[in-house]
Amino acid sequence: MATPDTVLPPRLIWARRWFFVIGFSFLWVVEGGSVNDAAEIAVLPLAEVRERIAALRAEVAHHDELYFKRAAPVISDAAYDQLKRELTEWEGRYPALSTAPSDGLGVDDRTGLRPVYRHRERMLSLDKSYSELELRSFDERIRRQLGRQNLTYVVEPKYDGLALSVTYKNGRLVRAVTRGDGEVGDDVTTNVLASTTLPKILRGAAPTGSAQGIPAVLEVRGEIYLELAEFARINQARRKAGEPPFSHPRNLAAGTLQQSDPSTAAARKLKVVFYGYGGCEPLSLRPVAQQNGLRQLRAWGLPTVENPRVVQGADALWAAVQAVGRERENYPFPTDGAVVKLDEGLLQKQMGVTHQAPRWALAYKFTPERAQTKLLAITLQVGRTGVLTPVGELQPVPLSGATVTRASLYNRDEIARRDIRVGDYVYVEKAGEIIPAISGVNRSRRTAGVLAYVFPVSCPSCQSRLQQSPEQAAVRCLNRHCPAQVRRRLEHFSSSAGVNIAGLGPALIDQLVSTGRVKTAADLYRLRREDFPAGNGKTAERVLRAIAQSKQAELWRFIHGLGIPGVGEVGARALARQSGGLVELARAFHDAETAAAWGKKVDLGEASLQAVQEYFSEPSHQALLVDLVALGVRPNNSPKAGGADQLLQGKRFVLTGALQRLTRAQATALIMAAGGAVEAKVSRRTNYLIVGEGGGAKLAEAAAFGVTMIDEAQLQQLLRPRAAGQ
Ligand code: IVH
Repeated sequence: MATPDTVLPPRLIWARRWFFVIGFSFLWVVEGGSVNDAAEIAVLPLAEVRERIAALRAEVAHHDELYFKRAAPVISDAAYDQLKRELTEWEGRYPALSTAPSDGLGVDDRTGLRPVYRHRERMLSLDKSYSELELRSFDERIRRQLGRQNLTYVVEPKYDGLALSVTYKNGRLVRAVTRGDGEVGDDVTTNVLASTTLPKILRGAAPTGSAQGIPAVLEVRGEIYLELAEFARINQARRKAGEPPFSHPRNLAAGTLQQSDPSTAAARKLKVVFYGYGGCEPLSLRPVAQQNGLRQLRAWGLPTVENPRVVQGADALWAAVQAVGRERENYPFPTDGAVVKLDEGLLQKQMGVTHQAPRWALAYKFTPERAQTKLLAITLQVGRTGVLTPVGELQPVPLSGATVTRASLYNRDEIARRDIRVGDYVYVEKAGEIIPAISGVNRSRRTAGVLAYVFPVSCPSCQSRLQQSPEQAAVRCLNRHCPAQVRRRLEHFSSSAGVNIAGLGPALIDQLVSTGRVKTAADLYRLRREDFPAGNGKTAERVLRAIAQSKQAELWRFIHGLGIPGVGEVGARALARQSGGLVELARAFHDAETAAAWGKKVDLGEASLQAVQEYFSEPSHQALLVDLVALGVRPNNSPKAGGADQLLQGKRFVLTGALQRLTRAQATALIMAAGGAVEAKVSRRTNYLIVGEGGGAKLAEAAAFGVTMIDEAQLQQLLRPRAAGQ
């Protein structure tokens, strides 16, 4: 047995191994699996327990911060849950050492910048389970407490997105709010409306005010998420643009909701699914049983969960959960489990809730597939802005039906924090089933010769000294002429998001850069037949033709292709609208004063404007634009260059209330495509206020400024091209 001042660490649940300690030696019983799979174990003195608890708390806090505040988690939910359980177990065993609470929902630090909203009813979370045994004991617990047999449950897929509460007043959508800390969440209405096609009016609601069966106030609860196909589309575009892909659809959905510019949100198509209720007035209109609740949501025209199963008893419950596990491969949305809910409302009430989760529901999480393999090397990829991304090169290992050879390592700090070393055996998981990531190290397999990883001090491509600061996780190569950066920049310039040069792919760019023929975008327009690799005659002809053609690409494509930080497609179009051509643009941003004058005209955020100014304050960038023009580049900047009539050129719009036919995102997109701008606030400079149902304070503001108010039909008229002579 352990001596008085030594203790055993808690059982590491995920590994499902039990260890028994006898004195200072230990004997262990393993339920299947190899010795190498074993989690670390030691006999620790109390001081070390204290340290372990502190370390676990810090680790959990670190991941809470990444998840809740930065929406950029670096470990899987399963790995996080494992940490939390380990901490809870330590704290449970040593209450005297547990002074700080480790629980509670992630609480956002309120910056005061975003409007917040207090939920009418608290938004709860769910307790989690990972095994058949845990699921069966959940059923047993309820049966025991209620004194009933063969209970009815509803089993639903667990959508992997963010919890959302949407309020309808008299059947009209008025607000969408995140869970936040469960009591108060962020008001994300604008971005939800911009990025989804959520019904603005409940089916059955009267056009003016309430109707029978429609609650005066209704909070519906659900999940906002990104479909896997949409996630793939966005990441493909990012890869093409030389930007790092997003790691998980959940993070991208979270990031989208926090955008300060709704047009960025509008460019990503999010979906919402509803599965429950919050506050409801009158309460009599809120269905009691879960099945009826889902049916009612559907009747109101709201999207609800895919294929909910109604089952009776523990066996059927387990079978239904497994069926979701099989089906989810074909779901178009990300799922990480199944949710089981006791059906009857009265029984739910009897079971009650804990401080953050109902006792009548449980999430069954499908553990992500995990494999163990050797980390052979860590390579560093240099992006177009010089940021280095570490990638783990692995001994090939099968995982989720594919062979994994590389995995994400995120950044320098994560490697150090988790002490990942070349030569280690690491666990590889499909984080959120999407991109394989290294989730941990099997320390028991570490051999003596395996040394701590030292992040290189020089760039792997150009050997120049890297910029590393302890405050920033990103490590950068500052050499603008670094061949890797040059390649990435050229890939971006010639991609379909840039001037779109067909046939000029990464391999050819690689060859042209390594022979020294091409260093800048301007060099592409200097290329001749003989500059291409020998024996590639046809390709050379084709690419040269495409290069020549690109001289007349739309101006916004050139601007976007330059890869100015913070200037995406929307920003590039905004800049293109205000400038006559490349040289004019370079002149406009030549110094701070002219740039400031321009800033007033261009519909771009302050940070982006500053980035544009910084970009052009560099003489080599000024020279690049002049070079391009000298080489015959004549970007097309006719009003129709974007493919749309510029009917609303220079006009400023503000939207208020819910439109009937168009979503806000669609209205915004149509106005922008026609050359207009959509702004959040009414000002003296606003030309039109588009008034939808339930528009509020903006009406009075518009009236005060004498702004023209139009409805949706009038907007459609403005968007219609006028016949000649009219
Ligand atoms: S019910 C009171 N049903 O999973 C019950 N939640 O890990 C509240 N989720 O906070 C939740 N799909 O954001 C429920 N079919 C589903 C769900 C679901 C996804 C999310 C939800 C919840 C989280 C808990």
